[in-house]
Amino acid sequence: MRLVALDQINGKEVLGKPILDVDGRKLLNSGVSLRPAIIQKLYEKGISSIYIDDDISEGIEIDSILCEETKTHAKIIVREEMQRLSQKKTMDYSKLSGVVDKILDEILSRKIEMVNVKDIRMQDEQTFAHSVNVCVMAIALASKLSLTIPKIKSIAMGALLHDIGKALLPASLLHKTDALTDSETAEMQKHPVIGYNLIKDNPYTSATTKVSVLMHHEHINGNGYPMKLSGDKIHYSARILTVCDEFDTAINDKKNENVLRTTDAVEYLIGASGHVFDKSIVDEFIKIIPIYNEGSIVLLSNGIIAIVIKNNPVNMTRPVVRAFYNPKTKTKYSKTNIIDLRTELSIKILREIKTNINEIINQ
Ligand SMILES: [Fe+2]
Repeated sequence: MRLVALDQINGKEVLGKPILDVDGRKLLNSGVSLRPAIIQKLYEKGISSIYIDDDISEGIEIDSILCEETKTHAKIIVREEMQRLSQKKTMDYSKLSGVVDKILDEILSRKIEMVNVKDIRMQDEQTFAHSVNVCVMAIALASKLSLTIPKIKSIAMGALLHDIGKALLPASLLHKTDALTDSETAEMQKHPVIGYNLIKDNPYTSATTKVSVLMHHEHINGNGYPMKLSGDKIHYSARILTVCDEFDTAINDKKNENVLRTTDAVEYLIGASGHVFDKSIVDEFIKIIPIYNEGSIVLLSNGIIAIVIKNNPVNMTRPVVRAFYNPKTKTKYSKTNIIDLRTELSIKILREIKTNINEIINQ
């Protein structure tokens, strides 16, 4: 199985993972042949990439960090709560708390060392899917930072609620695809304060959760918003959320444009650590993010193209790969051509290949 952009499908592949709608109903089953009519339907849903099974990716399994049921349920609850708040109703804390407990249990009980946070999203579920993904990353990161379970839970709740203030912003602003004007940007930047005001009097919500919603767009250098706080004036929990929030936005962009490779997004975090982001938090975050996701196509330093089959949590840049094509000699390799980069130190990954691999092979 591997993740590919929809425009690279040539009709010979089958769907690797089922596609669910926002309410968890199955739109497409795994194993379905990806005919042009199906691809068109996926485009209409705002999906731009999917998991496929094909010859190159045979035998590679990609685990979801959360089971589909938990993930869908979490998205539905976040959507329901945002709708309630937009109708001036009060938040149902117990429902959200139940969701956070379930996500916490799933992640912490599996002792996950890495989180693959590449997401397949439909246009109408972007905000909810983003909140759930940030929640997953924040739990994994807070756990890596050895925080206590109650603290991790407060941060996870802040992650689920971090953009809840957007419930009170006009839909036309949230769904605008063109660049925002200055006044629209100012309007959008009110969402942390709006979100904080929505939860500040809730007796069940912890102070950590409240403050992390308020401060999740503050930057260490004081150039964030809404209060332009700097350094450790920004609550530690908010500094954790900022890293997860910006990383998810970089690799799972809401308009499916300008989506960075994980390598580029990690480089951005490292480049900005110490002035935008808290360096000690970024240092731990990059230890749980696989730079080359399993199923990624990569170019090796010996000129051979390979697919990542197993990540190595001790060194994310040196996974186990399966070589399948040499573009110089136009040689295809058998599936037994496995290279463990942890031990094969003379070879390294030069970069991930995002272009259509079938076109390269058939040149
Ligand atoms: Fe936000």
